[in-house]
Amino acid sequence: MIDGCDHFSFIQITDCHLMDTPDSLLRGLCTHFTLQRVLQHIARHEADKVDFILGTGDYVCFPTDRQYACFVDAIQLRCNAAFPGPQGLGFPGLEDMPIYFLPGNHDGNKPFINQLFPGSPVPDSLDFAFTHKSVRFICLDTLRYVLRDLPHPDMDPLRESSMRLLESECASLPDEMPVIVAMHLPAAPVDELPWADCEVPEDMERFWQLFACKNLLAILHGHIHTTKERVVNGVPVLSLRATANQWADGDDLIPTTQPPHYRVVTVADGQFSHRNVEVDTEWGNVDLTEAIPMNEQAFAQVGEADTKDLFYNEPPNREF
Ligand SMILES: [Fe+2]
Ligand SMILES: [Fe+2]
Repeated sequence: MIDGCDHFSFIQITDCHLMDTPDSLLRGLCTHFTLQRVLQHIARHEADKVDFILGTGDYVCFPTDRQYACFVDAIQLRCNAAFPGPQGLGFPGLEDMPIYFLPGNHDGNKPFINQLFPGSPVPDSLDFAFTHKSVRFICLDTLRYVLRDLPHPDMDPLRESSMRLLESECASLPDEMPVIVAMHLPAAPVDELPWADCEVPEDMERFWQLFACKNLLAILHGHIHTTKERVVNGVPVLSLRATANQWADGDDLIPTTQPPHYRVVTVADGQFSHRNVEVDTEWGNVDLTEAIPMNEQAFAQVGEADTKDLFYNEPPNREF
């Protein structure tokens, strides 16, 4: 860990999509294995340089206690703190590394709290904010859905709890205080992924109004399983590859086995910088057969009862 008030780094990871068992495969990819590979890389190369890890949602595919237990197993979470934490990791080389979890659309309040923060009351929403070395972090709880037709025609607003948090934070924080906002859904469109346009919350204009006179350093988000960097109103808006499978550029949701990224963010003297680190998980390219629905639309159409066609359990031919 780095001492000092004006210079620190942290890591963003996102979209882990753990399933029922450590051997479960998602579109041919063992997400337990790939998440552990990412953490192993962080442990080897970054552990002594960063203050905490921030997850930006979708820790599981379906929000069940079993899938969260599998996630807890993968990261060897030490569940000592109440929500919102930070909780501590037990993963080798990252022992007691603080980790924050903001929820994604695949997450669910009750199993999320039961497994990641056992003993904590289950709140109606999982928004939270915290200050780390003079930087304010605002972590938004965006909409939840697992089975949903994509592309769907209408954008949804931010949750009421998120808007209330944004308004109270912007009313109380000094204008010069550096702020980083983290959320799961995309904060702005991505040219290469037109299907994601309708997942940008419709009231982001209100968001930008609130931050017009604030010192917003960056917005970090997940959900689109790809690393894209754009600047909106002078603010970096950064998405990140999943620790699970990625989505290729294009009109449709096409899964790829591009290697995961994690992001190292540094704030030094109030200035924001970052780098994206690619991890070779050695899982390799997965042979995706036509029999398996390959996009979320097909997934929604077949329905949860037939998800065995999408998510299947089979021992991986790799050793961690
Ligand atoms: Fe995701
Ligand atoms: Fe998502």
